[in-house]
Order: sequence, then structure tokens, then C-alpha cells
Amino acid sequence: MQIDGKTLLHGIIGNPVRHSLSPAMHNAAFAALEMNRVYVPMEVADPREGVAALRTLGFIGVSVTVPHKETILAALDEIDPVASRIGAVNTLLLRKKEETEEIIVRGFNTDWVGSNMALAEKMRLAGSKVLVIGAGGAAKAVGFGLREAGAAVIITNRTEQRGRELASWLDASFVPFAEVDAVRADALVNTTSVGMEPDVEAIPLDPGLLGHFKVVMDIVYAPLQTRLLREAAAVGCQTIDGLAMLLYQGAAQFRIWTGIQPPLDVMRRALEEELC
Ligand code: ATR
Repeated sequence: MQIDGKTLLHGIIGNPVRHSLSPAMHNAAFAALEMNRVYVPMEVADPREGVAALRTLGFIGVSVTVPHKETILAALDEIDPVASRIGAVNTLLLRKKEETEEIIVRGFNTDWVGSNMALAEKMRLAGSKVLVIGAGGAAKAVGFGLREAGAAVIITNRTEQRGRELASWLDASFVPFAEVDAVRADALVNTTSVGMEPDVEAIPLDPGLLGHFKVVMDIVYAPLQTRLLREAAAVGCQTIDGLAMLLYQGAAQFRIWTGIQPPLDVMRRALEEELC
């Protein structure tokens, strides 16, 4: 697709964004559907200045990544009620008000949708029990999605205080990491960075415990087959790799920006190609 005067502008703001896989994913989808849109990475230090620049330059749909997902809320005109409850935004939609031509920037959160859709490929969430390792932003999105879908959530975390705080916010239970061997659940989700390159032999849970779960999802995607997922598959668990949540949160963004279903297979292939 030729970039011209009618090309609609998309992108991602964060710091850093050099290694983001989102440009490959969204540009592949735009190309496959012959949409005259382009998605660019933009390193932004100050989210308020970033949002002002997006308005000025006429961007219409933008992703937000670390470290701005929470601080950006103060710079927005409107916040989707669910994003407001989570206190984090990963998606912006910019539109012109008809009467005044004023640009309205609205924030959404699709991370929790991405997590739910990734898990729902392999299990029924309503009525299930899921152990989530970690208590950062990713754990919050995963836990929120699970609670919305009617699952019981158990949080465990290296730093107990932080884990207890998230569990209390989610109305979930907390298990100290030292007692995690007693937990049996339908699924396990790793939301920590343990196992990420270069420390690929690291594993967030004793592999001897993986038989306690039917489904294991990792949000780490580099490498794609983490040691956690390999050990889980070896004991017969169903596994969900780290590209699944990235793909589905991106698909939900695409629907917000365009109103249409994105080509998931094209997006998944673009992510895989970008990784190798
Ligand atoms: P994000 O927003 O991406 O989730 P974060 O807020 O830095 O990132 O959270 C990282 C999570 O990974 C935390 O739960 C962290 O545990 P602590 O709360 O104890 O810091 C967890 N984490 C990171 N490295 C870890 C490691 N080596 N072992 C265990 N947990 C780890």
C-alpha cells in the first residue's frame, strides 16, 4: 500500500519501543486488508507531551506501552469505564467532534481481553480456578480478566506484600510462594519475566509441580517455547505461548480502531516472523 495524503496514522508510544512486535502485527493486518493505514513505533518520554503530539499530527489509533500505561490516564479526555477500573490504558482512539472539530482522546484497556481470549482457546474460564504468578501490571490485567469471566483467582508472588495487595484488589486469594506446592488448579499463568532471554533456563515454578495444572500459559514470548512451557507440555499440560495474549490484545485494538475483525492468522504469522 502506497503511503499518501489519505494514509491514516497509527502507532505505539512507550519508552523504549524499539523492540516492540506491534508494528509488524498491525501493519501486516492493514496490508492484508488493503487498508491505507500505517503503524509506527514512537519513543515518548512524557505521556502528556506524547498525547498532545498525537492530536497535533492527526493520529487516530495508538497503542500505549510501558512505562506510560498508568500515567497516561491524566492526559486523556475520556476513559473507558473498564480501563478506569483497572487504572491502566493500552489503547487510544482519537476522533474529531463533529460540531467543534475538537479532537477527543479516549483510552481503553485490551490487555485483559487478550489474556481471556488466549486462555479461552484451551479452557472454559467461568467456574475455573487459576493460579497467577506475579503482581505487576500484567498480573493485574490477567487477574482482572479472569475475575470478569467468573474464574477464581489465586495470586502468588516473590514479594508477599505486593502479591497480597493485588489479591485484595482482585478479591482473589493469596498463597505465599513457599506454599504454592499445595495448590491444584485448572490453569497456571506466569506473568513475571522469569524465563525471558537471556536467562532461558530460569523457570518461575518448580517443574515438579506442573502436573497440578491442566493448562499453562506464559506471557514471556522470547523465547517462544520457554522452559516453563516445555516442561508443562512434557507432563501433559496444554500450553499457551506468550504471543497469544499479545495477538488477542492487538486484535481487540484493531476492532476499536477499524470496527472490523482483523486477520488473526496474518497477525500471528507476522509476530512469529518478527521474533526469529
Ligand atoms: P509488569 O508490569 O510487566 O507485570 P512489573 O510491575 O515489574 O512488570 O512486575 C514484574 C513481576 O514479575 C512482579 O510480580 C515481580 O515480582 P516482585 O513483585 O517480587 O518484584 C516478578 N518478578 C520479576 N522477576 C522475578 C524473579 N526473578 N523471580 C520471581 N518473580 C519475579
